[in-house]
Amino acid sequence: MEYKLINPDNYERVIDHLRRNFFADEPLNRAAGLCQQGGGNKELEHHSLATLHDQLSLMAVDERDGSETYGQIAGVILNGVLHPGDTEQALDKLQYSSDINYKKIFELLYRHSLQVDLFARYDVDRIFDVRILSVDSRYRGQGIAKELVKRAELVARQSGYHLLKADATGIFSQKILRSQGFEPFSEQLYAKYTNEEGLIILPVEAPHIKLQLLTKQLKYDNDK
Ligand code: ACO
Repeated sequence: MEYKLINPDNYERVIDHLRRNFFADEPLNRAAGLCQQGGGNKELEHHSLATLHDQLSLMAVDERDGSETYGQIAGVILNGVLHPGDTEQALDKLQYSSDINYKKIFELLYRHSLQVDLFARYDVDRIFDVRILSVDSRYRGQGIAKELVKRAELVARQSGYHLLKADATGIFSQKILRSQGFEPFSEQLYAKYTNEEGLIILPVEAPHIKLQLLTKQLKYDNDK
């Protein structure tokens, strides 16, 4: 497997990978019925492309000699930069979205994030935000997601970030991030995320039970 930074030449292929995998089978997307496997979603594609433009994202490409699937994208990790005020702005903008399912998902993510000011808490002015971790179903269980997280940290380090953050929506991504030194910061049980009538807004399937916000601080030799 080759791990590479995603450049603009690959954006279309990455979106195609996400349509066939993450868009349909990430736990919240699945609970909201966001889209069919292989189908697109305008808002999520826009969100993914905006993240790609930050040029911090990586892909795993199958370049095993003689492989029938040579050249396929096996997995991606899409990372973006988060500045103070970005999440508040994104939440405001969300009110104008006409995609009710997309809105349900991102309202949960943004509102949960806004419960704490990570910038003040960690004394940073930018955060390396791990937004999308996705492995093609044909390549799962081979350690690719773990390796993508490991390498994302190297990218963050090369760019001098002091804080990484991720909103992990499922039990496996939470485990993977913890195995790479991320620490749970806050959680939201899906069963307790309800509307005014007490109905669960996102009926996420087991074994996934909660959203977990995880962080990892990076230390450098010249840090005081
Ligand atoms: N069942 C049991 N264990 C699992 C599973 C599973 N379905 N998936 C991963 N694991 C465990 C592995 O056993 C392994 O544990 P170990 O190190 O103790 O052996 C560990 O998690 C790491 O597994 P990887 O092989 O690195 O994970 P993989 O490459 O299969 O990718 C991923 C995992 C990204 C969650 C993949 O299943 C996927 O793309 N799912 C759909 C999209 C999704 O949910 N993405 C995460 C959302 S959160 C976010 O994007 C920030």
